[in-house]
Amino acid sequence: MPEVNTKSSQRPTVRILGIESSCDETAAAVIENGRALLSNVVATQIDLHAKYGGVFPELASRQHIRTIYAVIDQALQQAHMTLEDIDAIAVTMGPGLAGSLVVGVNAAKGLALAKNIPLIGVNHLEGHIYSAWVYPADIAEPPAPPEFPIMALLVSGGHSELNLVNEHLSYQRLGSTLDDAAGEAFDKVARLLGLSYPGGPSIQKAATDGNPQAFSFPRAKTDGSFDFSFSGLKTAVLRLVKEFEKEQKALPVADIAASFQTAVVDVLLNKTLKAAHAYQAKSLLVAGGVSANRALREAFLGQTEFPVFIPAFAYCTDNAAMIAAAGYQRYMHGDRSGLEMDVQPTFPLSYING
Ligand code: KG4
Ligand code: ZN
Repeated sequence: MPEVNTKSSQRPTVRILGIESSCDETAAAVIENGRALLSNVVATQIDLHAKYGGVFPELASRQHIRTIYAVIDQALQQAHMTLEDIDAIAVTMGPGLAGSLVVGVNAAKGLALAKNIPLIGVNHLEGHIYSAWVYPADIAEPPAPPEFPIMALLVSGGHSELNLVNEHLSYQRLGSTLDDAAGEAFDKVARLLGLSYPGGPSIQKAATDGNPQAFSFPRAKTDGSFDFSFSGLKTAVLRLVKEFEKEQKALPVADIAASFQTAVVDVLLNKTLKAAHAYQAKSLLVAGGVSANRALREAFLGQTEFPVFIPAFAYCTDNAAMIAAAGYQRYMHGDRSGLEMDVQPTFPLSYING
């Protein structure tokens, strides 16, 4: 066990350095006691991949190599710390792109070995969940954390899942997507509409001038289960686009974007509420890149049945603050990873280290 610093009188202070490189963001952050964020650095590769309309894996891993140590240095500097002040290094070990994950994992291993700092492999999805605990260290009053049991909706580019979180680090997956993830649906529909990558923000922007009732897109029923399905919705948009093309009419991009966004939000909110009632959740949590969507946030915050926790915008899309926050829970739980830790490109949330 590392020495635990004592800041004021008795309260032990645990500082975790988080490292994230699972997809197209190279990120590092320092967090204190799992919540108070001292620094949060994200080097995005969006411009690099935009011309390909999606993430180009080989370019992503090479760009991580170029930036990772500078990003880590910057995170330590912004926190006014060196590695000597860090109690553990938490790094995303999966899910994600293997070639990208390996860059963060190897950087973390190198630092852990050189400075004899404990290493903790973190599940990226667990990170998204813990993004709801993060707050900037300089605010006067820390916000209350979500109350267990939590119904957590995870919606990102690779995943759409409903998880019941009974207590810290305990997850029961109730449903997931049968085809496209919510973020993937945003990205694919954006492409159909000629909007730029990443699709979520582009659709949100286009939708602001659109009528959400202009088109009635299907809401997949998935047999009353808590699973999601977005491919039918995507196909419905494709069919509509083709009709406009056939008739050589201008595509009503704003109206389609707004109607599509409403359909996705409806499904996500209704399923989450249904699950929250069925499992008697005390709070709702929405996380992952799609939780940055304004219409989704408004819909969840507008319902009055459950308290809702949605991370601040800065912690919705991929970042290392959330990895450090999840790493802190693992650290307190006693989880440690060895230098033989491998990346896990597919990595279900239920996995517990050590
Ligand atoms: O969590 P994230 O940054 O990366 C993964 O772990 O996948 O999520 C990225 C996804 C992309 O599909 C992107 O289009 C979507 O999140 N996204 C949004 C918004 N911002 C990002 N979707 C809808 N509305 C947004 N404002
Ligand atoms: Zn993510």
